[in-house]
Amino acid sequence: MATKIRLTRMGAKKAPFYRISVADSRSKRDGRFIEQIGTYNPLTKPAEIKVDEEKALKWLNQGAVPTDTVRSILSNQGIMKKYAESKEDRVLKKYIELEKIKPETIEYDNTFENSIRPKDFDSYIGQSALKESLKITLEAAKLREKPLDHMLFYGPPGLGKTTIAQITARELGADFKITSAPALEKPKDLVGILSTITEGTVFFIDEIHRLKHTIEELLYIAMEDYELDWVIGQGAAARTVRIPIPRFTLVGATTKAGAVASPLRSRFGIIQRFEYYSKEELAEVITRSAGILGVTVEKDAALLMGQCARGTPRVANRILRRMRDFSANMGKNVITEGVVKAGLNRLEIDALGLEHIDREILRTIITNFAGGPVGAETLAISIGESQDTLEEYYEPYLIQCGLLQRTPRGRIVTEKGYKHLGMEYKTSDALQQTSLFD
Ligand code: ADE
Repeated sequence: MATKIRLTRMGAKKAPFYRISVADSRSKRDGRFIEQIGTYNPLTKPAEIKVDEEKALKWLNQGAVPTDTVRSILSNQGIMKKYAESKEDRVLKKYIELEKIKPETIEYDNTFENSIRPKDFDSYIGQSALKESLKITLEAAKLREKPLDHMLFYGPPGLGKTTIAQITARELGADFKITSAPALEKPKDLVGILSTITEGTVFFIDEIHRLKHTIEELLYIAMEDYELDWVIGQGAAARTVRIPIPRFTLVGATTKAGAVASPLRSRFGIIQRFEYYSKEELAEVITRSAGILGVTVEKDAALLMGQCARGTPRVANRILRRMRDFSANMGKNVITEGVVKAGLNRLEIDALGLEHIDREILRTIITNFAGGPVGAETLAISIGESQDTLEEYYEPYLIQCGLLQRTPRGRIVTEKGYKHLGMEYKTSDALQQTSLFD
């Protein structure tokens, strides 16, 4: 049974007093509990906290997941640190020669983006088809008491892949661990993470198309058999041991679905594509984030920011932050449409949401390569960006706007692309020559 450690409100009206208790993850907020492990009185100064450390460690070690508030209470009492140390000791000493492995848990940091990240499906705006199908799958997994199928999320960056994975973990009452493929340099990096997970953990690997082959092989076994293949000793004395690990759900995210090796792709039971957001959805995201930041945004201003946010919530929130600073500089405490127009102008963001570099890409193809076709590598060098950034960030949006086309022979600026820059459209020489032979 999955358990959680939570606060239960006691005390009279306006005089809250909390019990810290362990309960079944599925039980209601103030429902039945299994064991009380402490109390918390927020009214005294400082707040009075009493926790039975031994009981808390016992439950944590059995996989009970504390709520955010309880986690911070336990951290405050030094219990989370003791738990982390004891857990590493227990798991690693049991199975692995300690000096070989540095367990690596990349805790998600507390940046601006994280502070406004939606924490449940209800506050997550957009991707409605994906959300609905995921909710059904989650309910089914909960009913069967089986771990959720491994999931592959693909689509351009900034559309909420990490957020959905985090929400999934929360819904399941499971731990969430996050890393990215480039951070997994050696097999021991992956072993370090997988040897410390708890039952049902949602393990998120970003940029999964960049996994090294040796790590991919390890992951196949972990995904299918929930076992780790580990080599102990060296030379003639080397032998492989299979270490059982708790059942977990892998969520792989990629901006390049085509670059995920097919044996890996076939091991994901669920494959979901993330779509660009409409300007109305982005205006909603902006209004929600503004509420959290304590900023007032007029409706037309939110829509204008939404229109210029490249279909991407991450960009929308970035623009919101810039406009908040911009309006403060102008001595205004409300973000109006006028503030946004002036701010976007200053940032050189146009009505389609293109930034200076996007227009530079189109202009370079037109002026240096007669409108195209030009290969991605050559184009990346010409504009001074990496080919990955060009292909994974800039191009998908230009293509989505119908300004650029990818053809087998390279990139071409469309008629609409010329018009957007106010340039006269000419079919390129190269294309005219091709048509003679077509
Ligand atoms: N912030 C970033 N992405 C979001 C989303 N999809 N819904 C609500 N707020 C967000």
